[in-house]
Amino acid sequence: MKNLIKLFSIVFLFGAIFMSCEGPEGPAGTNGIDGIDGEDGTNGTATCFVCHDGESIETIQAQFYTSQHALGDIAVDYAGGRGSCAECHSHQGFVEWALTGDVAEDFSAPEAWKCSTCHTLHTEFDETDWAFRADDAITLSDGSTFDDGASNLCANCHQARRESDYYDSATAAYTEDEEFTDDDYADMAAAAAAMEIAWGPAGEVKYDNGVDTIIITFDVPTTHVYISSTHAGPHHGPQANMFAGASAAGGITGSAFTAHAAGCTGCHMGSDANHSFMPQEETCTACHTSGVPEDDMDAVYDRLVALAVELEAVHAIHIDSEWEDGDPLFGYVHPALASIPRAQFEAFWNFMYMVEDRSLSVHNPTFYSDMLDAAEAAFAK
Ligand code: HEC
Ligand code: HEC
Ligand code: HEC
Ligand code: HEC
Ligand code: HEC
Ligand code: HEC
Repeated sequence: MKNLIKLFSIVFLFGAIFMSCEGPEGPAGTNGIDGIDGEDGTNGTATCFVCHDGESIETIQAQFYTSQHALGDIAVDYAGGRGSCAECHSHQGFVEWALTGDVAEDFSAPEAWKCSTCHTLHTEFDETDWAFRADDAITLSDGSTFDDGASNLCANCHQARRESDYYDSATAAYTEDEEFTDDDYADMAAAAAAMEIAWGPAGEVKYDNGVDTIIITFDVPTTHVYISSTHAGPHHGPQANMFAGASAAGGITGSAFTAHAAGCTGCHMGSDANHSFMPQEETCTACHTSGVPEDDMDAVYDRLVALAVELEAVHAIHIDSEWEDGDPLFGYVHPALASIPRAQFEAFWNFMYMVEDRSLSVHNPTFYSDMLDAAEAAFAK
């Protein structure tokens, strides 16, 4: 408003200067004839005030700035600039992907999420600009369709990137030679000496120069599956697949948990569209009237920890030495290169899937329960 007042005073000033140059006023003339009615113009569309009225944006901004999306410190720095990762890892990447269906090149200065990452802001300059950049139904990595309204926006990024058969697809026995050098040498040489590598029934140290290079042969009979990457698993944000009950290993099938059908936005944003994107407790207690079922979630956590211990014992994963009971496992467990019996591999896959999902079963309690039971059975003594 200040600016408008300034503008009016400038116009007034010019008017005053102009008037001061004129002589005394003559008598008023007769009224002229009425002009012809003009055609109706189209309404102005620059309705900036529907959004820029102060409050409505500010409340949401305050919530948003507490969110990991606004921070993006982990995901954006690491992968936001890389063409193959950017569609999910930075503002620029997602916008380009939403507009063109692809990310053509790397970005040199990727940024974290902002309002216009998800909303089409400043396109029409009216309320329709709250529309989402991308909210079409999604085809998940198992081929099934995810279609859940506003939650489709989330699922564009929070979905698995591969299925378990990415690792388990060999039709014949094979061997794989892996070379470890320099920094990795000491660890692998020590692990080999201590027989702490799951190299399969006929695996062995193929070469070791005793200084900085060791080659290990992994033996993969058809009864076994080879974990071929230390990043193996569905990828860090497989929440949409979990929500839908898709993508488990070992023939476990699921479906969305009906009671939790409100979708990502239902729990993470609640009825007031909370933009911290953190689960809103009052959405839970609307149904769970005696409180969030934290005991059930804690029990799931304990079962995941027990599985981590089993998987580490067969050298399928490694748990960071800094991990302490009480920390979430996410970020502390890493797959190891390993040839292991198929049932253990399926347990490994489902374990990674649950750890990376990070909901301690909330995204799909019955599906979790099936995966946990099956994984525990694979290690039953
Ligand atoms: C659909 C709602 C909406 C409409 C309509 C809209 N804006 Fe915005 N505008 C926003 C949001 C949201 C931001 C970003 C705020 C942020 O990044 O936190 C923004 C940012 C801006 C900025 C950058 C400064 C800032 O506050 O971050 C300017 C300038 C701006 N808008 C001008 C306009 C003008 C001029 C119009 C009308 C012609 C307009 N906007 C219409 C929602 C809107
Ligand atoms: C453009 C891709 C993208 C979209 C769209 C997106 N997210 Fe995210 N989200 C991410 C990434 C990547 C991270 C991790 C950011 C980091 O750690 O730096 C993240 C982080 C989060 C986190 C915090 C996790 C933590 O580490 O605390 C939650 C919760 C979340 N998203 C929920 C949602 C919901 C709900 C939606 C839909 C309303 C959504 N996201 C839409 C990519 C996306
Ligand atoms: C289909 C979308 C998608 C693609 C493509 C993708 N990511 Fe991610 N990634 C995510 C989401 C979503 C998260 C955050 C999950 C969470 O917080 O639960 C994430 C998290 C991560 C993290 C963990 C960050 C943390 O919070 O510790 C790493 C590392 C990562 N991604 C690496 C990559 C790399 C490297 C690529 C490209 C080769 C890539 N991602 C491609 C969706 C994707
Ligand atoms: C990660 C994606 C994402 C980001 C980033 C985001 N929003 Fe949203 N926004 C949503 C979703 C999803 C909804 C719908 C929530 C629902 O349906 O419950 C929404 C709803 C809204 C609404 C209500 C729209 C309507 O139709 O009335 C407003 C206003 C809004 N957002 C403003 C903002 C502003 C301002 C920012 C930046 C500070 C922002 N959003 C950033 C995903 C996002
Ligand atoms: C029934 C409610 C509910 C639904 C539906 C739901 N979530 Fe969650 N989500 C949660 C809860 C609760 C947690 C946190 C568990 C905990 O306390 O660690 C969580 C955890 C997460 C996390 C990890 C956050 C963190 O800080 O560790 C992400 C990311 C996430 N959800 C995204 C999604 C996405 C994407 C969808 C939709 C496909 C979704 N959620 C659907 C309730 C829900
Ligand atoms: C629309 C109602 C509804 C909402 C909202 C809801 N739940 Fe549930 N939830 C249920 C029902 C019904 C069950 C199944 C209860 C049973 O089998 O005893 C369930 C089951 C669960 C379970 C499995 C353990 C158990 O009690 O069976 C967890 C954990 C859970 N919910 C957590 C949450 C969390 C956290 C939220 C909020 C983010 C939430 N729920 C929101 C209705 C809801």
